[in-house]
Amino acid sequence: MTSCQSSENLASPWSPAPKGLEGVVVANTMISKIDGKGGKLVYRGYDIQDLAGNIPFEGVAFLLWVGHLPNPLEFDTFKKNLGEHRNIAADVKIFLESAPHEAVPLSVLRTAVSIMGLRPSDKDSILEDGLNLVSQFPTILSHYQRTRNEEEIIAPRNDLGHAANYIYMLTGEVPNKKHEHALDSYFTLLADHGMNASTFSARVTISTLTDIYSAIVSAIGTLKGPLHGGAPSKVWEMLQEIEKPENASAWLKERLANNERIMGFGHRIYKTEDPRSKILKELAKENADPDIFALATTVETEARKLLQAEHPARPLDTNVEFYSSLVLSAVGIPTDMFTSTFACARAFGWIAHIMEQLADNRVFRPNSEYVGPLDLRVPEAWRAKN
Ligand code: COA
Repeated sequence: MTSCQSSENLASPWSPAPKGLEGVVVANTMISKIDGKGGKLVYRGYDIQDLAGNIPFEGVAFLLWVGHLPNPLEFDTFKKNLGEHRNIAADVKIFLESAPHEAVPLSVLRTAVSIMGLRPSDKDSILEDGLNLVSQFPTILSHYQRTRNEEEIIAPRNDLGHAANYIYMLTGEVPNKKHEHALDSYFTLLADHGMNASTFSARVTISTLTDIYSAIVSAIGTLKGPLHGGAPSKVWEMLQEIEKPENASAWLKERLANNERIMGFGHRIYKTEDPRSKILKELAKENADPDIFALATTVETEARKLLQAEHPARPLDTNVEFYSSLVLSAVGIPTDMFTSTFACARAFGWIAHIMEQLADNRVFRPNSEYVGPLDLRVPEAWRAKN
């Protein structure tokens, strides 16, 4: 199948592509495959159920970028490389220390990436730039978090893994093995996901042969919306509002009666439970406060029942964001940093896609169907004036 063909119907100038490009294939990729009916997600041939927790995240990141699982030497070198790229530049620090304390952390990250991109870079430095970006996301976020809390800044430690170092810089404590494993698995599960909106943004932007920083700024801006990456904080807020399992049914009914969406449910591609959600639910059970976990499972059951009654033809199960909120909170991530932590994982996928796009590039330039009026004329009164 060539680019821009739909798996069901061909997009042509006579039949505009479906709204939201649903079902349209815009690129061939070897990075990840989603089986929406079977509820499966595969990275370069490996099921995520097999990867998450069995291989440290750095090994999964190598797999996404390079195409195969690393041997021990490749693993150590890649992990060391990530560790050595964690320090942020002085101009980024100045920005982080002057950014408004009420800013959304993902917006702070987006601007910090723009500042990183002020230095010239070219196609040949893509790997170096990619390492700088993924390694520095956690440093940028924790530097901002500790600045706004008026806490001492904690420098990155390059002997710790990607997940452990992030928690360490945020909290000042090296995490226990359970928390490290939970965040490491979260990073694996969230690292890539087919042609999601932010990945598509990154590919469209890099297809103009601009620099990688501009492409990542596009991707971050796209991730920020509540229909994409902005949902987990909203899930957490919903659970806080519901407060007790016995309030769940009435709260959810009222929300649906007001035509509002229930955060953490539904997905464009999955017609069954999101496979990431299954693993995250287990991680939440092991790490979250038992009362919150019990509340979340009640909300899950009640919401499924109500959504099924409302949309019998469209299964609306929990998506990745629902149990992510419990896992992230349990390991010490502040609520308003859930989406930026998602960005720390997804940046690995964005960069893999940027490299894939550049290896066989053609600028994205689809058509639109003009549906406005034609043959209008500027009124005489305007003509007379000019
Ligand atoms: N709560 C209530 N109704 C929902 C819903 C939700 N979470 N998700 C979808 N629906 C309903 C829509 O209202 C729509 O109903 P209608 O046909 O009567 O108008 C129908 O299901 C189809 O929804 P649609 O917007 O076409 O689905 P989509 O594929 O475009 O959207 C999401 C997918 C994820 C954006 C959507 O399910 C959603 O908004 N979920 C909540 C936000 C969220 O969890 N985002 C994180 C994404 S990982």
